[in-house]
Formats: sequence, C-alpha cells, structure tokens
Amino acid sequence: MPRYSLTIDGVRRDVDADADMPLLYVLRGELAHKGPKFGCGLAQCGACTVILNGTATRSCVLPVSAVGEAKIRTLDGLGTAEHPHPVQAAFIAEEAAQCGYCTNGWIMTTVAALEKTPHVSDEQIRTLLSGLKCRCGTHMSIMRAVRRASDVMTKSTADTALFTDATQEA
Ligand code: FES
Ligand code: FES
Repeated sequence: MPRYSLTIDGVRRDVDADADMPLLYVLRGELAHKGPKFGCGLAQCGACTVILNGTATRSCVLPVSAVGEAKIRTLDGLGTAEHPHPVQAAFIAEEAAQCGYCTNGWIMTTVAALEKTPHVSDEQIRTLLSGLKCRCGTHMSIMRAVRRASDVMTKSTADTALFTDATQEA
C-alpha cells in the first residue's frame, strides 16, 4: 500500500492508503478529522468540502493520490472557540445551522471564496452557494451569515489597506 505525505492545516501527516481512496476517507477514517462530512459521496452536496491550495474541493471524489503537494485546509484548522474565523463567527451570529451536518460545506466554500474576494453581491452569494445542499432548510440564515461575513471581511480588508497606506506615508 503506498504512503502519502499530506499537509493538513499546516501539519505534515503521513498515511498509508490505497491510491484511489477518497481524500475524505483518509481525513475522517485514517486521520480523525471530523470537520468534513460524508453526505452523498458523489460531489453533489458539498458536505465533504475542504480547501485545496485555496480552492473549495469536494474531498469525497478526490483520490488521495491526486493531492500531491497541495496544502489542505479543513474546518478543524480554521479557527478556535475563542478566535473563530470571521465566517465561523458570522454563522454563529446568524445561528445558521440546525442539525449542522451540512455546515462544513457552507463554511469552507464561503471561506475559500471570501478570502479571495471579500466583497460579494447577494447575487454572487446565491451563485457561490447554489451547488450546496441543506436538508434542514437553513438556507435563509446561511445567506445572512455569508452576507455578514462578506461585510466584516470587506471592512477588515479596507482597514488593513488604510493602515498600510498610513504606515507607508509615515
Ligand atoms: S459528500 Fe462530497 S459532495 Fe456530498
Ligand atoms: S443544518 Fe441540517 S442538513 Fe443543513
């Protein structure tokens, strides 16, 4: 059985696995990462989403042998209870979960998108999230959470730019 060396949430992990084993199985079954969830196993629901080199990726259909040197981010490494990622904080503030099974997918998809482009329109949010599923029907509060996260991250980016300009002028 081949051995793979994966970088997950900044930590190098070695794992023995069949080449065609989905990354989701490796993360959950072999390495005890509980953030990504098994929903459909067919790239249809998004519950298994991780971020691979900055891009939201459905780990249920990605063979571990295809990961290579890519950096993997999971929900487990996103934030802490004391210091949640702004997207996690927005989901908490909007109470955007019922059973929570799907929440990993919405959060990781949103993080990947807003870290690239914090300012998004409501229409862009709808498009971004259109491929994700929630059986509990939490969609409206999820939309509000993503709107809130976008506003917070846009302001934070603007504040950082202002600070950088000010220090360069000083
Ligand atoms: S479990 Fe991967 S998309 Fe549904
Ligand atoms: S909160 Fe239950 S499936 Fe989405």
